[in-house]
Amino acid sequence: MNNSIWRKKPMHMFEQDMQKSELKRVLGKWSLTAIGIGAIIGGGVFVLTGTAAHYHAGPALALSFVIAGIGCIFAALCYAEFAAMLPVEGSAYAYAYGTVGEIFAWIIGWGLILEYAMGAMTVAVSWSGYFNKLLHLFGIHLPENLTNDPVTFGGASVNLPALVIVWFVTWILVRGIKEAASANNLIVVIKVAVILFVIIMGAFYIDVANWTPFIPAEVPVARENGEMLPAYGWGGIISGASAIFFAYIGFDAVSTQAGEAINPKKDMPFAIIASLLICTVLYIAVSLVLTGMINYKDITGDALKAPVAFAFDKAGQPWAVFIITAAATAGLLSVMLVMMLGQTRVFLGMAKDGLLPKFFAEVHPTLKTPWKSTILVGAVVSIVAGFTPISLLGDMTSFGTLFAFTMVCLAVWILRFRDPNRDRPFKVSGLNIVAPLGILVNTFLILNLGRTAQLFAMAWLVFGLVVYFLYSRPRSLLNTRE
Ligand code: ALA
Repeated sequence: MNNSIWRKKPMHMFEQDMQKSELKRVLGKWSLTAIGIGAIIGGGVFVLTGTAAHYHAGPALALSFVIAGIGCIFAALCYAEFAAMLPVEGSAYAYAYGTVGEIFAWIIGWGLILEYAMGAMTVAVSWSGYFNKLLHLFGIHLPENLTNDPVTFGGASVNLPALVIVWFVTWILVRGIKEAASANNLIVVIKVAVILFVIIMGAFYIDVANWTPFIPAEVPVARENGEMLPAYGWGGIISGASAIFFAYIGFDAVSTQAGEAINPKKDMPFAIIASLLICTVLYIAVSLVLTGMINYKDITGDALKAPVAFAFDKAGQPWAVFIITAAATAGLLSVMLVMMLGQTRVFLGMAKDGLLPKFFAEVHPTLKTPWKSTILVGAVVSIVAGFTPISLLGDMTSFGTLFAFTMVCLAVWILRFRDPNRDRPFKVSGLNIVAPLGILVNTFLILNLGRTAQLFAMAWLVFGLVVYFLYSRPRSLLNTRE
């Protein structure tokens, strides 16, 4: 028995697992692409663009999106190569298990909880914020103690909309992957339509004077807490790329759906890359329109929370605020849907390997979804979203994602050397440049995240190692399957 923490899951075992999979293969390439877009376009583009323009890049915000997009494309290419070669549920976790070793795979899977479960929690809280804003537009005001967690409110209270929406999403996910994909498709159509509306309508209000100079000279700017930090210039464009990275999170969630794809070898690479490219183009266009409609210096105070809506308000089109708020509310719903979907599929992969209890791998006999795990994930996400000020920890979602991106770039590169003759239905050309650049850019973005998030995320990973040694390692199926 090979008890090494570096033991690898042999490729033929992945193939056996794929043949035994109980999940329904119903997702075609456009549904998979919609899953990517469903997870990518969310609060990020509607909120972070203001902060990134005002405090980091100025009118050159579009260049920050280009840089973050390039970092993501390196990771996306590596994901695509893996997803076509190993179309299994566990995504980055499974890729690392087949290449680098069990302990690495475990820690990536554990890190993905930050991306998917914690991502869903933070998005649920943001959703509640948008939902309230929407209700306000209709003159409805929910009591403060029903829209805030007890810490923020300072007394007995619950963020009820956040809690309820998570149960709604859980219900859709339990009902079936086809139902979840249809709900996602509908939301994606709505939010892409609104993003196009922002771009086309906004273009009429662009004042080119707002773009001059396109890259303002670097100067220190006072942040909200009074701290003076350098902004603008090329340094500002790069720090802006870290600031808006959250907006790109989600294309990798496509890779967790490999077990439900009709033709994963061809369609996974297509969907991962297509969803990222479509969103990158939309993001670049939105940022050009935004910085053209309003001067980056004017995005202050409340405008920082809803810069796109602010731009239309200033252009004398207050009705657009309604459309944008409604779209963001609908849009965040699909981000949550895909994040929770991704989380349950990663757990499924880990449980199939014995590293998590079997409970997480139990698939419903008729619905064909991992229903018990979905309900448990829903319960935890809803409780945390309802009762804690989780939105403060949004950077941890970026940490978990960037960590997985870095590891996938590393793992795909290692496998090229270890197993050069393996059948690769999608083979990245120039991987010797793409993979190291992916590792560098994504590590650089991790180093630029907030200090608190870095510390909490590291503590989470250390806790994961304790669980691995106490629970998972002794129960790994590799103990007996080998
Ligand atoms: N990319 C997702 C968003 O912007 C997480 O909300």
